[in-house]
Amino acid sequence: MHPITHPATSSARRSRRRTLTKAATAAALSLTAVLGTATSAGAAVPPDDLNKLYAASLTPYMGWNTWYGRGVAINQSVIRAEADALVNSGLAAAGFKTVWLDDGWWSGSRDASGKITVSSTQWPTGMNGLADYIHSKGLKVGIYTDAGYNGCGGANKGSAGHVQQDINTFAAWGYDAVKIDHCGGNITGLNDADTYATYRHAILNNSSARPMVFNICAWGYQAYQPVNSNAWRTDFDIAVGSSDGSYVPGSGAYTYAKVLRNLDTNSRTPTSAGPGHWNDPDYLLTGHNLDGLPTSSTDAASRSQFSMWAMMAAPLIIGTRATTLSPASLATLTNAEVIAVDQDARGSQGVKIADDLAGGQVWSKRLTGSGTRAIALFNRSGTGRNITASFSAAGLRGTIGLRDLWTHTNLSSVTTGSYTAYVPPYATVVLKATGTEAS
Ligand code: GLA
Repeated sequence: MHPITHPATSSARRSRRRTLTKAATAAALSLTAVLGTATSAGAAVPPDDLNKLYAASLTPYMGWNTWYGRGVAINQSVIRAEADALVNSGLAAAGFKTVWLDDGWWSGSRDASGKITVSSTQWPTGMNGLADYIHSKGLKVGIYTDAGYNGCGGANKGSAGHVQQDINTFAAWGYDAVKIDHCGGNITGLNDADTYATYRHAILNNSSARPMVFNICAWGYQAYQPVNSNAWRTDFDIAVGSSDGSYVPGSGAYTYAKVLRNLDTNSRTPTSAGPGHWNDPDYLLTGHNLDGLPTSSTDAASRSQFSMWAMMAAPLIIGTRATTLSPASLATLTNAEVIAVDQDARGSQGVKIADDLAGGQVWSKRLTGSGTRAIALFNRSGTGRNITASFSAAGLRGTIGLRDLWTHTNLSSVTTGSYTAYVPPYATVVLKATGTEAS
């Protein structure tokens, strides 16, 4: 494995981010130069119809991303194979419909007019040909750039100075989603909120009038949230990317600790989530071994990440190779009843309602309709334990019907007051509770 050193994956980034945030304020760069628009520093970006933005992802978007499974080793045949695998495995039918290219698709080159150019060796039918192929499979396709002049992967791999031009290009090629990273944005010292608002405006006014999902990737700056995107990353990368997506178990690239870290950070801003705008805790690691866990607990922990991402109404993006997922991983990812929790039309982000401070937690997510909740009994620890959910803490009263969404069974007796289950190490029980609103 050749680890790629990104600020987003190292503690250096955290201190650098603080420094650069201060620098950004001091520098007060001209946005005219950076964004290639008539907008000047501090000037308000024209207002947008946020309902139009939100319409692109009224429920959390679902799909597959190149970064953790393939690294920068992506090309037409690799992406076609992954798209084929999404369809043939049943993942697409389960909802994982967006094939999302991350860093590595572009070297940063442009023609004399400033338009992005790509390698014809890497993409023999061009970026539009790739989009056509993916669309022909009934899927959608996403793409990636950086807010600044540079990207996480190197010089010139950003859209600063070309914002509307690049967004127009992506739309004309047929792309349905765009992720805007912030490595170059940091280096340039961009004013974050103005910058992302400008990207939002460019996406909503692209010259093809193409609806596009907008994902901000800026690792938890709360200042970004008011500019409104379809999803904003709430913490640093959940794993360490490699050049080709390969990794060595024990290397620390994929750790259970970071799954918990990103979960906990993401849980702090539940009111930021709602139909069309979601907190993004980064990608699903289902299929990777997680350092810090016994191998025998990998599948349980994967189901827990999937369960908790669904409880938080997070975008569900697979971060492993779809081409080589095990039957157990596929079974996890295609659990329609847990996916339905994530995709519930109310768009409410679940919250923690109990914590025994030894690893046992209870989370509740309000679902569509009166008196319905998803309730998760989450065992973060390596010790099996009983976990008890109090229905009143979840806002319910009276007689409660319960269904276990992993065993797909209605629990034999309706119950009142509380429910206790034994939860194995690192596992999560997810229940659908149907009762009466407490108030
Ligand atoms: C940053 C982002 C990741 C990924 C990489 C690609 O680290 O946070 O999600 O896009 O860049 O270089």
